[in-house]
Amino acid sequence: MSCILIQNGLLIDTEWKRRADILIRGSRIVRIAPHIDPQSIPDNVTQVHADGLLVLPGLIDAHTHYNLISRGTVTADGFREGSKAASYGGVTTVIDFADDNKKSLPASLRERADAMGEEMSIDFALHQGVYAMRPSLKEELEEIRNAGCRAVKLFTTYKDVGYYIENQEDLRLVFRYCAQLGLMVCVHCEDDDYIAAAAASYKGSYKPEDHPVLRPAKAEALAIAHMGRLALEEGCQLYIVHLSSREGLEEVRALRDKGLEVVVETTPHYLFLDRSRLTGPDAPLYVMTPPLRDEQDNLALQEALCNGEIQVVATDHCSFTRAQKLESSDVRTIYPGIPGSEEMLPLIHHLVANGAHLTLNEMVNVLSTGPAKYFGLYPEKGALREGSDADIVIFNPDYAWTLSHENLHSECGYTPYEGVPVIGKAVMTYLRGRLIMGSGLYLGIPGDGRFIKADGRHSSL
Ligand code: URP
Ligand code: ZN
Ligand code: ZN
Repeated sequence: MSCILIQNGLLIDTEWKRRADILIRGSRIVRIAPHIDPQSIPDNVTQVHADGLLVLPGLIDAHTHYNLISRGTVTADGFREGSKAASYGGVTTVIDFADDNKKSLPASLRERADAMGEEMSIDFALHQGVYAMRPSLKEELEEIRNAGCRAVKLFTTYKDVGYYIENQEDLRLVFRYCAQLGLMVCVHCEDDDYIAAAAASYKGSYKPEDHPVLRPAKAEALAIAHMGRLALEEGCQLYIVHLSSREGLEEVRALRDKGLEVVVETTPHYLFLDRSRLTGPDAPLYVMTPPLRDEQDNLALQEALCNGEIQVVATDHCSFTRAQKLESSDVRTIYPGIPGSEEMLPLIHHLVANGAHLTLNEMVNVLSTGPAKYFGLYPEKGALREGSDADIVIFNPDYAWTLSHENLHSECGYTPYEGVPVIGKAVMTYLRGRLIMGSGLYLGIPGDGRFIKADGRHSSL
């Protein structure tokens, strides 16, 4: 079997960093040591010189919507295109979502996993959406757990597209079942009643700049309080997806004071972009839910990330082409979502490089090890360890560049970070010991990506 020897890089894991060599045989890391003599290896060895470079565990983008079919259209990045953009950004695993077909969760999960398995060139796990109560729900949940799904996804809004379980007793039962079965509950938190009330008193013309008025931070805070109460009462593990506001963060703090253990995710756009983007002809390009907030919200979330109050950064990558986004300038009909998998690592590394109180180890934790642990993928994923999958990013921490749609690879044709200067770039990405991106070339193979069960095993369902 052939081997790859990555020599003399600075290895960054969550707990430690050290200059060492790393030997890959087949799909796994087999040895980490200060100096591994290539002559001592009986097999064919490819030597990779990583002097001056960082060696990171492959990133896990724990929140993506590739090939999302919704609102009568489909996202620009399908599974192939999303995988490619992700590979350029050092992402080797994504956690995507299976919609609830409202008949059978196992069938919903299988259908999504099969479709992804045919086209993804990086690995993937799945969260299962639960959008409706039915008598068989507990058995369905048990079945998807046994099939390798660790978490369900709920919405407290999007009544219009049928995602919201409105009946409170039904919602409580979902939490109870998940607690009993050891499933994490991931929630998109925006209080639907509060949003409806904001719309009822609204007199404007639904321009993008009014999106934060129509979906205020207060709605996020109220939903977090509500979900937190249910999780506390039912003893359920809670994960807040895409936290966007300081007000929401305050609610997280209040819940933690009451003893709730909650995992909080935010995204690069809530850390670095604010509502000033929501004016002018390109404003629709910046529409997603929850909406962009104020600069103070960005700063509060950055501080919370550095303090360890936010455990995961993921992207909510949900890309539509410029043309799709600009079809409407009415926030009720603009397709919500933006790209981000490729931009995530340079943006977060830029924080580290610019003296924010975030270390390289913490960066690896929020982008890789943390999500691997929360979602049952560790230590196959999220670790530089002997025995782990050889999902590895070789990263140049000194490379200064400017994010632009011209040097990024999403099929959407734009980046919300156009013109943003960053430091640091993935130069090589390995998936299970195979180079999938190197020196600007993409070498991923559609269909090579595997479904990763929540116990870390690779599988097709
Ligand atoms: O606008 C967004 N975020 N679109 C993706 C779906 C979701 O709500 O996460
Ligand atoms: Zn969401
Ligand atoms: Zn999402």
